Amino acid sequence: MAAATIERIGEHLFVNADCVRGAAAHLADGSVDLIVTDPPYGIEGDRLDRHYNRDERFVDEGYVEIEARKYASFSRAWIAQAERVLKPGGQLYVVSGYTNLYDVLGALRKTSLREINHLIWKYNFGVYTSSKFVSSHYHILYYAKPGGRRRFNLQARFALDETNADGRSLNYRDREDVWNINREYKPGQRKNKNELPKALLKKILAYSSKEGDVVCDFFLGGGSTAAVVIGMNRRFIGFEISERTFRSRIPDLREIVAGSLLETAPEPHVVRNRGKSWSAAELEQLDGRFKELHASGATRAAIIATLSAELERGAWAIRKRLRSARNF
Ligand SMILES: C[S@@+](CC[C@H](N)C(=O)[O-])C[C@H]1O[C@@H](n2cnc3c(N)ncnc32)[C@H](O)[C@@H]1O
Repeated sequence: MAAATIERIGEHLFVNADCVRGAAAHLADGSVDLIVTDPPYGIEGDRLDRHYNRDERFVDEGYVEIEARKYASFSRAWIAQAERVLKPGGQLYVVSGYTNLYDVLGALRKTSLREINHLIWKYNFGVYTSSKFVSSHYHILYYAKPGGRRRFNLQARFALDETNADGRSLNYRDREDVWNINREYKPGQRKNKNELPKALLKKILAYSSKEGDVVCDFFLGGGSTAAVVIGMNRRFIGFEISERTFRSRIPDLREIVAGSLLETAPEPHVVRNRGKSWSAAELEQLDGRFKELHASGATRAAIIATLSAELERGAWAIRKRLRSARNF
C-alpha cells in the first residue's frame, strides 16, 4: 500500500487516507478532545443532485461514497477508532441523514460512548418531493467518552440572563435540541457534496471546546470543519480518502487565518455587577444613556443589550430597572 500523503499547515495535520487506517497510524489512544464529523450517508451519489435540486457543475467530483451493503460494518470500524482516540470526557458529534441512521446508532451503541443529545438540524431547501413530506433535517448524534469531565460551555454564546425583545431567554433557545441553520448558498463556487455550514460548526465548537483543543474530522470533504477549527484557534487533524478532493481543498485551507473567526464568535458576556445594589451614579448613567439611545432610534432589544454591556449587568436587571423607572 502506498504511503498516505500528509499535508501540514502550521500545527494542523491533513492526511489523504481512509480514516480508519489514518486514525490507527496517526492518532494515539486518548489524544483528541473533540471529533466533529460528517460521514458519507450511503446514498448513491448520482441521486444527490436531484435530492438537493442544484447545479452539479460546481460540486467536487472526488467524493467517495460508502456502499449501502458495507455501511454498518464501516460505521462500526470508524466509530471504534473514534472511541479509542478520544480523551476521557472527549466528545463526538456525528452528522447523519436518516437513510442509514440506524447503522450509525447501532455502531455507537457497541462502544462505551454515552449519548448526550440527539440533535435535529433543520435546514432550508429540503429534498423536494410531491408524494410524501419534504425532508429538511439531519440528525446530529452528540456522544461523550466516559471517565473524564466533559466540557460544555454553558454561556458560550449567550449569558444565562440574556433575553430577546419579548423577554425570552436567548441562552435557553440556543440550547434547544432542534437547530434551525441555513445551508450556505455558494453560486458558482467549488463545493463538496453535503458541505456543512460554518454557523453549525461554530456553534458545536463554541459549546464543546476551547482554544488549543485537538479537534478531529474523520471525513474532511470540503474542509468546512477544518476551516472553522483553524479560524477558532483549535488544533486540527483530519482524513480524506479521495485524492482529488484532498488536493483541491488544501490550497484554500492554507489561506485560513488562525483565530480569524473568534471575533465573530461572541465571547461569554461578563456580568460583573450581577446581584450588587445600584449606586446613585449608576442610576444616573442608566437614565442618561437610555435617553440618548432612545433618541437615536435604537430598538428596545438594542437599548437593553447596550446598557447591559456598559453597566456590566444582566439584561433582566436592566429591563427591571427601566420598567420601574420609566415603564419601558
Ligand atoms: C459528507 S462528506 C464531508 C463533507 C464535509 N463535512 C464538508 O463540510 O465539506 C464525506 C467525505 O468523506 C470522504 N470519505 C469517504 N470515505 C472515506 C473514508 N473511508 N475515509 C476518509 N474519508 C472518506 C468522501 O470522499 C467525502 O469527501
